[in-house]
Amino acid sequence: MRRWQIDPQSETWRGTAAFEAAVADLVDGRLLAVPTETVYGLAADATNALACADIYAAKGRPSFNPLIAHVESTKAAERHALFDARARALAEAFWPGPLTMVLPKRVDSPICDLATAGLPSVALRVPAAAIMRDLAQASGRPIAAPSANRSGRISGTTAEAVAGDLGDRLALLIDAGPTPVGVESTIVALTDERPRLLRPGGIERQAIEAVLGETLAPALVRPDDAPDAPGMLSSHYAPRAALRLEATHVEPDEALLAFGPDLPPGAEHARAVVQLSARGELREAAARLFTAMRELDASGAERIAAMPVPEAGLGEAINDRLRRAAAPRR
Ligand code: TXA
Ligand code: MG
Repeated sequence: MRRWQIDPQSETWRGTAAFEAAVADLVDGRLLAVPTETVYGLAADATNALACADIYAAKGRPSFNPLIAHVESTKAAERHALFDARARALAEAFWPGPLTMVLPKRVDSPICDLATAGLPSVALRVPAAAIMRDLAQASGRPIAAPSANRSGRISGTTAEAVAGDLGDRLALLIDAGPTPVGVESTIVALTDERPRLLRPGGIERQAIEAVLGETLAPALVRPDDAPDAPGMLSSHYAPRAALRLEATHVEPDEALLAFGPDLPPGAEHARAVVQLSARGELREAAARLFTAMRELDASGAERIAAMPVPEAGLGEAINDRLRRAAAPRR
């Protein structure tokens, strides 16, 4: 891991070789730790599904929680999501700054399905930290960045904490000293009629309510989402078709979600076959998972037979999502 020290106030990195190298890391799909005003982010190109799979692998989280995409300006954010009057007012009042908005994702946004965990919404933030904005602008990529900590640890607010937790996974750690806000961004969802507070954070509820002229409703959390509490997700993506797990054969009329080179008996009659990874690689499978479920739904099959995926590494999060998709709907 390279380590690069900056003065977050100076902005003198622009045009330096170290900055260009950081941009190249992003464009080439590597992982970086980037300081923001709230906490350090474990950053990668949000349009690169393999790089986003590496984020999940590095965090060691047993499930896919959607990631925040960081962009340089409101104009850049509008390339990825649909802004209504409320979203425009909040952007005007609080960006750049510690506010994240969950908005309807534009179908033509290049942000990958894995970054949004297959959801039709996307979390966007224009941070106050100029280094993150400059990297997004110079790379021309929205930057996916969850807090830079391993699953179950507290969010990294110093370069030392980040190095200790994730050092072996990073191409580059950008050290700007302790982060000034120290708590994560406030997350507001504007995906239905009522604006919802998904996570309290660096901007207080009352300030947001004053701009909106209405109170923030609580997050919708289904009981089966309880383990996701920090994310307080209002929904999880699941295919419309029913899913049959650990399939060792394909029944007539089923589509097949394949993993690995050896397809099970009946595969030749499957309504559709979508491969997660012909080589049986978990990183590639994670990168393809949500797009694959979408493709299988599009095949029109009523049921999907899913081949077993090993429970190791990213397999745990892949299996978590497949089990949720297979669970009876409420
Ligand atoms: O301050 C912050 O927000 C930091 C810095 C690095 O920007 N980032 C951060 O990311 O805290 P993370 O991944 O630790 O938390 C983001 C939360 C997750 O809990 C996730 O569930 C939620 O945002 N989220 C992301 N996209 C969402 C979506 N489409 N719908 C609902 N929740 C979403
Ligand atoms: Mg976090």
